[in-house]
Amino acid sequence: MALVLATGAAIAQENEVDNITAAYEEGGKYFTEDDVPTFNVKEDGTVDWYTFSGFRRYHAECHVCHGPDGEGSSYAPALKDSAIDMDYYDFVYVVVEGRKVVDAADNQVMPAFGLNKNVMCYLDDIYIYLKARGADAIPRGRPPSKDPKSDRFTEDENSCMG
Ligand code: HEC
Repeated sequence: MALVLATGAAIAQENEVDNITAAYEEGGKYFTEDDVPTFNVKEDGTVDWYTFSGFRRYHAECHVCHGPDGEGSSYAPALKDSAIDMDYYDFVYVVVEGRKVVDAADNQVMPAFGLNKNVMCYLDDIYIYLKARGADAIPRGRPPSKDPKSDRFTEDENSCMG
């Protein structure tokens, strides 16, 4: 396992790693070869539960600034692209810590969500949903059908929300 992780990190640095394709599934949650969360969309358009959950959480917490469906706005960038272009850990870091860019022309603030359980407990879901959008695996709007909620999801949710 350590060897696999080390190899994954080395490839990631060369920026050649496929950070989209699901390599394995655990309790209804999908991961890439280097253990980064990702989506799974069946041929008939059915999405995994995490993608669906992420759709809901994104539109509760992020879309006011980042626009519906991860499309971006005049105020904040299109996160469907960020989820593809940014390293997963960088993405998480920005959401936890926030980011402020202040220069003569701009004063935009990405709030820190590190203490907000409604975001932190569902951050992978949001990331997974945005990645599905950025990869054009799902259209705009509410996914019409989804896999059932898994035991893993419920357990993680309960322990995170406390
Ligand atoms: C109050 C408005 C606001 C809200 C709400 C908000 N953001 Fe942001 N976010 C921003 C702004 C503005 C930026 C750009 C900051 C900058 O210029 O670096 C940003 C940047 C980001 C970035 C970096 C994107 C990139 O490509 O560099 C990520 C990731 C991000 N936001 C995730 C989220 C997530 C996930 C949520 C919901 C949980 C969220 N944001 C909610 C305003 C917001």
